[in-house]
Amino acid sequence: DDTKEGVKGLVDAGITVIPRIFHHPPNLDDNLDSEASSQFSIPVIDLQGLELGSPTKRKEIVAKVAEASETWGFFQIANHGIPVDVLEEMKNGARGFFEQDTQVKKELYTRDQSRTVLYNTNFDLYSAPAATWRDSFGIYMAPNPPKPEDLPEICRDVLVDYSKQVMKLGKLLLELLSEALGLKPSHLNDIGCSEGLALLSNYYPACPQPELTMGTAKHGDAVFLTILLQDHIGGLQVLPQNKWINVPPVPGALVVNIGDLLQLISNDRFKSVQHRVLASRVGPRVSVASFFFTGMLPSTKLFGPIKELLSEDNPPKYRETTVRDYFACVKLKGLDGTSSLSQFK
Ligand code: SIN
Ligand code: FE2
Repeated sequence: DDTKEGVKGLVDAGITVIPRIFHHPPNLDDNLDSEASSQFSIPVIDLQGLELGSPTKRKEIVAKVAEASETWGFFQIANHGIPVDVLEEMKNGARGFFEQDTQVKKELYTRDQSRTVLYNTNFDLYSAPAATWRDSFGIYMAPNPPKPEDLPEICRDVLVDYSKQVMKLGKLLLELLSEALGLKPSHLNDIGCSEGLALLSNYYPACPQPELTMGTAKHGDAVFLTILLQDHIGGLQVLPQNKWINVPPVPGALVVNIGDLLQLISNDRFKSVQHRVLASRVGPRVSVASFFFTGMLPSTKLFGPIKELLSEDNPPKYRETTVRDYFACVKLKGLDGTSSLSQFK
């Protein structure tokens, strides 16, 4: 029953030494250089002007999106159309969920990933090599949104509003990404990359021994695309090559990253880059990830490298898979620091 109180429960109980299950062996997170490089930072792309419909402006933005997706697999976007007060409300709503009366939260506790509204801690607790310092709360908002009354009251309205807006933004980004691949703008949306939307809120309580554990272990996202809203605390790092790079919070901006499935269908043109979140003495940190994938199960739709991108010089690097099979593979493995993509070569 204790797990239902989450990591937050441990902190609220006043622990000063973290339980062993949270200890990460030094090689697990591949700290390489534990200092993140400050030499590089992922690009911030300003979407201002896109809505005016100037083809020159659009081309300019598509070129930046292409470059970022090929090199970093990550970028931040400014002037993306979601108002700052909606972002603030979403962060506050997510935080409010974790900080509300434990009894209400516990009622949504489940380890059954097929539920459409779920609260838990360490979803991969039994497959990952070590636990991490965060609690999570997830909801599948598309294609079959829960009835409003099934959403937690404390953040119900903002969940509905934010997911509507983030879905619109996701579709726009998938248009830009289609163009970046030289395809017609609707291609990625047409094949179903934005059919499914899951929102995952993460809550990282202040940690008394952050150097012994992780907030989120190193992983790549097992979806097509992720739009991440992070608060002002920081701690997110990406590993585009062999050096960790900080993704500093930029007020009003959103972080965008390419998921494994988009790397797969783009035949490695776009990169799904590994990332992690450090545990910190400062907290709580709150983030809300919006994951775009294909409509929920059972979906027998197969995804493989997009035919239009292939040629004699660019043969398919992956076999076809359903999203369900891809998820199953990732879930089996847990966030152990390696990519599942190699199993689909
Ligand atoms: C994640 O990548 O799963 C979490 C990102 C974050 O909390 O910033
Ligand atoms: Fe992630």
